[in-house]
Amino acid sequence: MAQPKTYHPLLVSLHWLMALFIFMLLFFGKVLLVNTSNAEPVKMFGLTMHASIGLAVGVLLLVRIWLRLRTTTPPPATAGNAVLDSIGKLTHFLLYFVIALMVASGIGMAFFHDLFAILYGGTGAPLPPYFNSPPRFVHGIVADLLIALVGLHIVGAFYHQFIRKDGLFRRMWFNKK
Ligand code: HEM
Repeated sequence: MAQPKTYHPLLVSLHWLMALFIFMLLFFGKVLLVNTSNAEPVKMFGLTMHASIGLAVGVLLLVRIWLRLRTTTPPPATAGNAVLDSIGKLTHFLLYFVIALMVASGIGMAFFHDLFAILYGGTGAPLPPYFNSPPRFVHGIVADLLIALVGLHIVGAFYHQFIRKDGLFRRMWFNKK
């Protein structure tokens, strides 16, 4: 089968929807959640939103991997340099892996501290002090790694689009024909 010029429309939609969700999780996680005490009533709402969007990202990731394996993708974009191409490939792989790790550590934290019952079960129990627990620690460290990877991914995409001018963004958009 001939290789298409763009990704499957569902993969394109998933890419931008996940980008929006992950940006929200990272931004509000770092700026609001961490700086709001567990005793404040608004924290319960913020954490429920955070966990729900985080779980949605986990489901979207699985759908995306499944679809990625079942669809024909455009030929690999080259940066004109073997080392940069390898960094690009590694970044893409690590992005999938690290996003999965964020979701897994979030779920781990929720089980460890019985957060699902508190957030969704209406138990009325207060949020426990989870800040020093192992899954909370992993979640925080992996979040920093994800921020670095997302930064690298954006720099790479801009390098293709504006320096190499190879129209990379068109591949991750809807085919007009
Ligand atoms: C891709 C998915 C996710 C991303 C990008 C993400 C991002 C973040 C970030 C950036 C923080 C602040 C970390 C820090 O600076 O130390 C955080 C905290 C947290 N996240 Fe997530 N998260 C995700 C999924 C989840 C899931 C699925 C759950 C639970 C089911 C969850 C539960 C929590 C909790 C309980 C905290 C601690 C908030 C606090 O310090 O009070 N996260 N997350």
